[in-house]
Amino acid sequence: MDIDLSRPNLEADNALEQISLLRQKLSELQANITCGLQPTTSDNDLNKLITHNIKLKHRLAILNRAISKYSIKQPLSVDPTRMQSITDILTELFSMAITSACPDITDPPVVIALSANPKFKDYQCNSALPLANIYKQLGKKVAPKDIAQKIVDNLPDHEIIAGLEIAGPGFINIGLSKDFALKNLSCIFEHGVKPPIIPKKLKVLVDFSSPNIAKEMHVGHLRSTIIGDSISRLLEFLGHDVLRINHVGDWGTQFGMLIAHLQDRFPDYQTKSPPIGDLQAFYKESKQRFDEDEEFKKRAYASVVKLQSFDPEHKKAWELICDVSRKEFQKIYDCLDIKLIERGESFYQKRMELIVKELEEKGFLEHDEGRKVMWGDQSIPLTIVKTDGGFTYDTSDMAAIKQRLCEENAEWVIYITDAGQATHFQVLFGCAKKAGILDPAIHRVDHVGFGVVLGEDKKKFKTRSGETVRLLDLLEEGLKRALDKLKEKERDKVLTPEELKKAQESVAYGCIKYADLSHNRNHEYIFSFDKMLEDKGNTAVYLLYALTRIRSIARTANFTPEKIRELSKTHQITLEHEKEWKLAKVLLRFPDVLLKITKDLFLHPLCEYVYEIATTFTEFYDNCYCIEKDTSGDIVKVNVGRILLTEAAAVIMAQCFDILGLKPVEKM
Ligand code: ARG
Repeated sequence: MDIDLSRPNLEADNALEQISLLRQKLSELQANITCGLQPTTSDNDLNKLITHNIKLKHRLAILNRAISKYSIKQPLSVDPTRMQSITDILTELFSMAITSACPDITDPPVVIALSANPKFKDYQCNSALPLANIYKQLGKKVAPKDIAQKIVDNLPDHEIIAGLEIAGPGFINIGLSKDFALKNLSCIFEHGVKPPIIPKKLKVLVDFSSPNIAKEMHVGHLRSTIIGDSISRLLEFLGHDVLRINHVGDWGTQFGMLIAHLQDRFPDYQTKSPPIGDLQAFYKESKQRFDEDEEFKKRAYASVVKLQSFDPEHKKAWELICDVSRKEFQKIYDCLDIKLIERGESFYQKRMELIVKELEEKGFLEHDEGRKVMWGDQSIPLTIVKTDGGFTYDTSDMAAIKQRLCEENAEWVIYITDAGQATHFQVLFGCAKKAGILDPAIHRVDHVGFGVVLGEDKKKFKTRSGETVRLLDLLEEGLKRALDKLKEKERDKVLTPEELKKAQESVAYGCIKYADLSHNRNHEYIFSFDKMLEDKGNTAVYLLYALTRIRSIARTANFTPEKIRELSKTHQITLEHEKEWKLAKVLLRFPDVLLKITKDLFLHPLCEYVYEIATTFTEFYDNCYCIEKDTSGDIVKVNVGRILLTEAAAVIMAQCFDILGLKPVEKM
């Protein structure tokens, strides 16, 4: 394609297009120079190439400068009602500067980081070193320091930057401006804590919790429930359209034996509700018969077939059994305040038949010792049809992913299960891609795995007698321990019975959720009430207390949220004291933290962040008077600017709690 290099069009779109064409040409040329050097390349050709290249670079530099000037005139997209991501702004600014400073490098690295040490100001741009390396590969020796200086020279003015310095071998230290900080923080008084702007609102389907009917919901499902709920809350807060799906195991072969056993034990189950409240015992009984009695086993198999062809009698028995489980699961969801739509494996029966047909017709199924399997891009295949013609977990997931992406039109599907299932999901995604169901250009799919839960003895989490721990018992124990803790702190003496109950539930369920979320989900995690109920360190108890204490400061000064809002119109947060400024800078990171955890779906950095707010707040509060009282305890002076900072910390913390599923209490 020919580009008119003499008259670059400075309309932004056009310029961008031209730049991208020029870049393409440039890389082709660069490739020519480095790779195209054959022994036969004549000096003349080479010289021509080089001259041409230099000319192109020159044009590119002109265009790059033009475009960065043009962009500066256009303010960066700003919404004054919400906090902006500092990293995004800096990345945009430095990207412009780097493009102008190094016009000859395609896709230059723009590295923005938080400064690890206050000596190095607040943020850093660490691009100069990798850029110098790129130049070196291109055969050009440039000192990183010089590149850094060039970047600084080309940096457009922006209110966010209060100062710049080049340090060490070529780091650019960036000081954050207090004016910007004030603007960015103060919007929350009028507009509340809003999420950062995201590029596109997506339809997201989160598959989590997903226990198996008639079996015990175990700690693995508890982890999936807690992590899945928090991820859903995060994505909902960001404005995505989230569908929370409970993919319960309600269609497996276990139903054959359960139904057959139900028919034997309670022949009148159609008319009289059978007493199978203890489904575990019922399950064990039928399993024993299944293992010992050949005749029974045959009937069990026949029952599955009947159920899967929707025989009304079998369906009724199945519904009865599912209902018992469902009620048990619901108790746990109610305690933990988890909202889910149940759409179990049974939902996909018809769709499984269809997907098998489709895969068969398209020639994706291979015969393998009587089974029909499908290979994706992994070393094991999916089993789509068993030797007896039945479907498997793989079949239901294949049908489900098609339903989700093609019927539900989800653009992002997230599966939350133990890490042991990672391969299953990789195989599934590979097969879905191969079958044309999953298109990486429009769909994002994630398997969010997590490590196993261990007991305090570092062995698999079990009761003393070696049984799986019943989740309801666990929650019950949590409540008891939380109450003990509150009594130990003599909260029962100052709180009303209702307040105490609220605090107890908030602590009990909060500590279980937080202990899970604050650990890197990839690691195994030790379930210990003693640890999670500690009131020091990064625990729910410490944080719940911290927020209550922060909130009580404004209350002591008789500042209601309405009054704070009014005052925020005439007063500003004060940022003079070093500790005020330190706290403000932590609070300003809120949008960045959320954007980061949305990328990789690890929630522990959010926990670390709330903890950092709490500890930085303590530093601030220890050093800066918010309210001054005289010796008789009467308030003599209120520092409004500091109360505003306190309020900002409280609302941001509360928003983080909300994403983590913690329920703050007013009094504790
Ligand atoms: N029921 C499964 C289990 O207990 C988890 C299901 C996860 N979701 C899915 N689509 N496979 O392990």
